[in-house]
Amino acid sequence: MSASGYILGFETSCDDTSCALYSPAEGVVVNKTAAQLEHGKYGGVVPEIASRNHMKTILPLYESVMNEVGLGLGDIRGIGVTHGPGLTGSLLVGLSFAKALAYSSGVPIVGVHHIEGHIMANALSGTFETPALVLVVSGGHTQLIHVKRIGRYELLGQTRDDAAGEAFDKIAKILGLSFPGGPEIERVAAEGDPGAFDFPRALRHSGKLDFSFSGLKTAVRLKVESIGELTPRLVSDVAASAQEAIVDILAEKSREAAKRLGVKHCYIAGGVAANLRLRERMSMRLEPLGVEVRWPETRYCTDNAAMIACAAYHHLEAGLHCGLDLNTFPRGELTSWA
Ligand code: KG4
Ligand code: ZN
Repeated sequence: MSASGYILGFETSCDDTSCALYSPAEGVVVNKTAAQLEHGKYGGVVPEIASRNHMKTILPLYESVMNEVGLGLGDIRGIGVTHGPGLTGSLLVGLSFAKALAYSSGVPIVGVHHIEGHIMANALSGTFETPALVLVVSGGHTQLIHVKRIGRYELLGQTRDDAAGEAFDKIAKILGLSFPGGPEIERVAAEGDPGAFDFPRALRHSGKLDFSFSGLKTAVRLKVESIGELTPRLVSDVAASAQEAIVDILAEKSREAAKRLGVKHCYIAGGVAANLRLRERMSMRLEPLGVEVRWPETRYCTDNAAMIACAAYHHLEAGLHCGLDLNTFPRGELTSWA
């Protein structure tokens, strides 16, 4: 293993191709993400287009990351790559590329679970304090996870149907807004009244730490159909009220989980962590319990390779890496390794 501390990271689980260099001493050295904008016109990610674009982008992206800092593979301590969950074709491009680099250089490779990457985005610009509660909110996941220490995870509850990000995306589509819908809902909600419509908060009093967002999506659709013609003002009011319903239930269940665990630290992880109303509401509900709520810098909330490199660093520190038979997995829970 090289004496230098640089970890190279790759993330290609969905539609963003990302490559990064991370070092524990310097933090994120470079992080470059190529977004695939053409999915917008289909209203969602088209898997076949995503993998073809990863194929075109990954080599020049890797070269530009290494050239920017004048490093070669000989300077790299380890390679971290997302190997699941995600779109198989997309994952295969990143994984095959990372394996080829590892094979040709002898640098150890670490397969990172995408959700562990999102959790570790919180360690990119500060220390990650454990034990902690983490609210994972992305396009594919809504989970409450007890992180006993880095590498030791317990799933406390999760969505029974749509993920929070998926709910934002579907509601945006109903309102005629563009994809991805989360940032669009947040933008138009800023002009709306969050109390204009009383949308359902499913499973609020269930006593469980599970979520359900499919009923909200249906309630929004029925409301929009009953309104008929949507003025910009009504779009903003529906968006603000729907956003309020989502962040409200996320914050209530997080508060309940933090109370049960007695933890002093709570982190938000995943693309929806970029939402300012969610951050505000989480702080409002958890800080009175003496729980400090933190979230990643906005640029590291959505998919990026820096968080994958950071997660890989922790595996390497524990003396763990993978063989070159490492494979992708489309679905599967985050499991403990420490
Ligand atoms: O973590 P991520 O980049 O990809 C997945 O792993 O799924 O999350 C993407 C999700 C999308 O559903 C997107 O609409 C949502 O995160 N998102 C937001 C915001 N920014 C991204 N949702 C609400 N408010 C935002 N500002
Ligand atoms: Zn993600």
